[in-house]
Amino acid sequence: MSQPLRLGIAGLGTVGIGVVKIIRRQAALLEARTGRRIELVAVSARDASKDRGISLKDYAWETDPVALAKRDDIDVFVELMGGHEGAAKEATEAALATGKDVVTANKALLAIHGQALAEQAEAAGRIIRFEAAVAGGIPVIKSLTEGLAGNEITRVMGVMNGTCNYILTQMEATGQGYNALFEECGRLGYLEADPNLDVGGIDAGHKLTLLSSIAFGTKPAFDKVRLEGIQRISLEDIHHAADMGFRIKLLGVAQRSARGLEQRMSPCLVPANSPLGQLEGGTNMVVIEGDAVEQVVLRGPGAGEGPTASAVMGDVCDLARGLKIPTFGQPANTLEDVVPAQTGLPAPYYLRMSLLDKPGALAKVAAVLGEAGISIDRMRQYGHEDATAPVLIVTHKTTRDALDQALTAMAETAVVDGEPVALRIETV
Ligand SMILES: NC(=O)c1ccc[n+]([C@@H]2O[C@H](COP(=O)([O-])OP(=O)(O)OC[C@H]3O[C@@H](n4cnc5c(N)ncnc54)[C@H](OP(=O)(O)O)[C@@H]3O)[C@@H](O)[C@H]2O)c1
Repeated sequence: MSQPLRLGIAGLGTVGIGVVKIIRRQAALLEARTGRRIELVAVSARDASKDRGISLKDYAWETDPVALAKRDDIDVFVELMGGHEGAAKEATEAALATGKDVVTANKALLAIHGQALAEQAEAAGRIIRFEAAVAGGIPVIKSLTEGLAGNEITRVMGVMNGTCNYILTQMEATGQGYNALFEECGRLGYLEADPNLDVGGIDAGHKLTLLSSIAFGTKPAFDKVRLEGIQRISLEDIHHAADMGFRIKLLGVAQRSARGLEQRMSPCLVPANSPLGQLEGGTNMVVIEGDAVEQVVLRGPGAGEGPTASAVMGDVCDLARGLKIPTFGQPANTLEDVVPAQTGLPAPYYLRMSLLDKPGALAKVAAVLGEAGISIDRMRQYGHEDATAPVLIVTHKTTRDALDQALTAMAETAVVDGEPVALRIETV
């Protein structure tokens, strides 16, 4: 009979409690599948007196997660606390230093310290697994590192923040504005303690960093992701996009070309009839393109107790089976530095702006675009009663750099009121 795999779990919130429940409920199934008993030995959280809905009396309690990580009666340290500094980082380092494998759901920790942690793990002959960190219950890390290992990956895209997708799809479905839905998400508990992590694209940017590293064999580099949130998307944008057959999604794209590696997380227009365009509510989707497989689309729940715990347990089972795969799919010392693309691949852009109602205003905008080498595909001015006229422009393919140059010049024409909204139209 094989030895049991002994776990210590730090963090008994939504995900941690979900993991405890699966370990109990599915003990026989997990043992049958892995050939080993999965045994929970010790747990840690801040407040020992908190009612967590299940009894934890069978497990040793550690108030300090670093002490839990160092225990010599566990094989695997399961980090489910969150945060990229402090307890999560210290305890993960302590676990690796004392010979434990690590399973984590913490995208922020790995997006920022992933390279150093992967190097530490590999130097010690240990494994870090993080399926739950990206797109919740969707087994996307496993797909990229294992199932698609025979492909040269050309592009990875994803809608990976359920809260943003909920806000954007509810704006369209209910006609409520961004601010009302942002407040609703706060009431429903859908927002992180720092909401900018969600609506500012940071959380999804962390996830894209990890996917990109595996896909392109590069060191995770969150600081090289171009980030833009959904805060400036208005109902008009949603309606204009719908009129043209598109929907707006907070879309992460990582793509390598001769220009370098492009990594961006930004609201984009995608065709309404594409799989990404049809994605509703809190559901996540990741699209992976490879030279041999062509395109794979993965769809599923991006968060929540059950889906996230499911992903954590997938990692635990792999460790129980003895599967050894480097953190980012290849040895950490072979990962290359990211060479960011100097200019992104060209695409058409959607522009919405308010023009002062003066003769020649539209001509000035068209001239500025022309000077930046941007040609206009469609242009529409909407009826208005106040001193500014809403104008919508769809450009032919151009680079973001050329567009930024035009937007800077536009601000100096004194005919544009406020900052235009510029959204890439992504081919998916
Ligand atoms: N929730 C999701 O759907 C989801 C999805 C994917 C990934 N994740 C990731 O999973 C991780 C956990 O998320 P969660 O939603 O389960 O968080 P959560 O509900 O806020 O739970 C966090 C847990 O960590 C404990 N904790 C925090 N700081 C600690 C410290 N310094 N020492 C000891 N314990 C500490 C808390 O203890 P107390 O309970 O005593 O306060 C709590 O039990 C995060 O990295 C998150 O990004 C979550």
